[in-house]
Amino acid sequence: MNPHTLSLRALLLLGLWHSGRRSLASAPELQDQPKKIAVIGGGIGGTAAAFYLREEFGPVVKIDVFESGSVGGRLATVKMGDYEYETGGSVIHPLNLHMKHFIEKIGLPPRKDLPSKMAIFDGKELVFEESNWFIINFLKMLWRYGLNFIRMQMWVEGVLDKFMRIYQYQQYGYSFSSVEKLLHAMGGDSFLTLMNQTLEEAMLADGFSQVFLNEIVAPITRVNYGQSVRINGFVGAVSLAGADSGLWAVDGGNKRVCLGLLYHSRSELISGKVTSISYKVRPSKRGTTAGFYEVNYVGESGSAHGLYDIVIVATPLHQGKSDIAFSGFSPPIPSHYPGRYHQTVATLVHGLLNVSYLGTAEPASEFTVSDVLTVDSKGSVIHSLSSLDPVHIPEGYKRPPASQAKVWKVFSPQPLTQEQLQSMFLSYDSVSETPWLAYPSYRPPQRRSPPFILHDRMYYLNAVEWAASAMEMSAISARNAALLAHHRWHEQGTKVDQEDLHTRLRGEL
Ligand SMILES: Cc1cc2nc3c(=O)[nH]c(=O)nc-3n(C[C@H](O)[C@H](O)[C@H](O)COP(=O)(O)OP(=O)(O)OC[C@H]3O[C@@H](n4cnc5c(N)ncnc54)[C@H](O)[C@@H]3O)c2cc1C
Ligand SMILES: *[C@@H]1O[C@H](CO)[C@@H](O)[C@H](O)[C@H]1NC(C)=O
Ligand SMILES: *[C@@H]1O[C@H](CO)[C@@H](O)[C@H](O)[C@H]1NC(C)=O
Repeated sequence: MNPHTLSLRALLLLGLWHSGRRSLASAPELQDQPKKIAVIGGGIGGTAAAFYLREEFGPVVKIDVFESGSVGGRLATVKMGDYEYETGGSVIHPLNLHMKHFIEKIGLPPRKDLPSKMAIFDGKELVFEESNWFIINFLKMLWRYGLNFIRMQMWVEGVLDKFMRIYQYQQYGYSFSSVEKLLHAMGGDSFLTLMNQTLEEAMLADGFSQVFLNEIVAPITRVNYGQSVRINGFVGAVSLAGADSGLWAVDGGNKRVCLGLLYHSRSELISGKVTSISYKVRPSKRGTTAGFYEVNYVGESGSAHGLYDIVIVATPLHQGKSDIAFSGFSPPIPSHYPGRYHQTVATLVHGLLNVSYLGTAEPASEFTVSDVLTVDSKGSVIHSLSSLDPVHIPEGYKRPPASQAKVWKVFSPQPLTQEQLQSMFLSYDSVSETPWLAYPSYRPPQRRSPPFILHDRMYYLNAVEWAASAMEMSAISARNAALLAHHRWHEQGTKVDQEDLHTRLRGEL
């Protein structure tokens, strides 16, 4: 063989190879594509990340999803009698486009819709009860709260309009390196201000009345986040959007989305608890060094580990949520970031409600309220009480009136005592209690949110929960992380943290 032609070909190849990989100059040891990616956590965040990673990195990369409990995480059901019921995340907003896309992709139908009726309880009596007649509700509201109601809808719509921009950005492949940059891209300084103010401050400044905040807004933040109107304004807006009409759930249970995403992403589920992640540098073939993440876990057959090019952490790094030790990182990565998660206990009771507990004189057979919200008062030991329908609505199902034994869901900050249960229910035959560390305990003004980028090629999804915790927020964060991982791998800086995307993309619609 002629050495000269060989070297010429080699040079040509090298040249092509180099120009093709020009962007990788600072990481020459990396392969064209990552070989293995680890996702820690099999909730909606982790499984959505697996789905989007597959989209970004193609069919060859191996994706492992580690889960120490059950797939679904905070999306979970329990069986009572013949039916399953949601105990965790339950409703989805009609404009949650990623969640919508997932069920279409997987082929899951939404759950059949049933009408609902809301009332507000002050610890003694029902201070408001929705009527079956729209016009009566409207007049009642107008009389007591003036135009606050209509204003609130406009206020939430204004936030939602800006929120929706994220879908276009992600469609075009743009990603953000921090929660603050992501929020800023959606809603500019107004979103950062919302993050740093309480919902109460934000709404009072916009002219809402204190009575309206106490009697209408607080019950909504209590049912959705177990907290008062002192949560941040952004999660407050998400919470108020959760009182819109058209909310939906997944037929058979929301956690089915997670199972479907795992299947569609063709990732491998590893049942095990990740105990530590360390960064290892090794000599590579080409005489340079290569960095890997070593993921150590305890699985069904004892301790084991795997080496990965990219890691996505999809579980909250907070006290009581997960304990992952990070070693070999500089600066160090903490197992737990500051701030704690708020406890919400979900108690499902199959029994006969004591309607007099709600201070109503209505006979139980005519009591058709499905959701009882509560005001923030000393007398309220519960955050909410709802009549619960199964995750799959059987043919011919009608929600029974309160005079029949059925399943109720109570949210409370503490487990209910026997006495409390006995005063709320005339009789009951089964109780299922799930104490969740449910969502962050929001205390604005807030220090910086935890980072999305933990290290070179290691990303963290749940930082987004400090803006707001919801299924769609985890899905948005998952897509953002997959895009970030892709762009940083291929060093495509033009797709990260771009300013003014809204005006720049306007022409593209
Ligand atoms: C009671 C309640 C009601 C809610 N209501 C709604 C609602 O109506 N609508 C809505 O949109 N959102 C709601 N939410 C919020 C929503 O459920 C969450 O924001 C969302 O499910 C979070 O998903 P995630 O995947 O980010 O986290 P998680 O679901 O917490 O997933 C993390 C997973 O990681 C696993 N894990 C942890 N540590 C390790 C480890 N070391 N190794 C391996 N695996 C590990 C956990 O077992 C878990 O499965 C509610 C939450 C609760 C608790
Ligand atoms: C929020 O306020 C804190 C302290 O007041 C400040 O350090 C932080 O930068 C602010 N964050 C935003 C996003 O404005
Ligand atoms: C029902 O609730 C009322 C009002 O709280 C209470 O006085 C009564 O004792 C309760 N009934 C039962 C059977 O506990």
